[in-house]
Amino acid sequence: MKKVMLLTILLGMIANAQDMDLTKRGEQIFKKYNCNICHAPKDDAASVGPSLETIAIHYLGNERKLIDFLKGDSPPIIDPSRFGIMKPQLYKTKHMYEEDYRALAYYLTSVHKNQ
Ligand code: HEC
Repeated sequence: MKKVMLLTILLGMIANAQDMDLTKRGEQIFKKYNCNICHAPKDDAASVGPSLETIAIHYLGNERKLIDFLKGDSPPIIDPSRFGIMKPQLYKTKHMYEEDYRALAYYLTSVHKNQ
């Protein structure tokens, strides 16, 4: 019984470490593509685009759909009337490795994760 518990804790730790790696990688991509110019962690009047908090509210648990959006395969759901500003940005995220999509989607919905 003890062994099972230890294993469960160990597996939990590994899963957590992987989540941290994904968030880090996602943040790197986010900054490399200058997404942070328009997207702040929290809503503030100066930001052009929705905050990561707002993005998380709409996409947490639905990262697949978020990845489709980043690929240009799924329509915007947060602020469609202002999609004209976001659309040209998608050329940056159109052709990425699948793992990078996962990382970016994970980061974009990460405000409540790993806290
Ligand atoms: C020039 C400003 C600007 C930049 C740079 C920018 N965005 Fe946006 N983004 C917006 C605006 C404005 C919206 C709101 C329109 C919309 O919902 O599509 C938005 C919306 C979004 C959404 C929500 C989509 C939805 O369902 O409505 C996501 C996700 C997103 N951006 C991700 C990114 C990522 C990732 C990058 C970097 C590659 C990025 N943005 C760069 C302005 C920007």
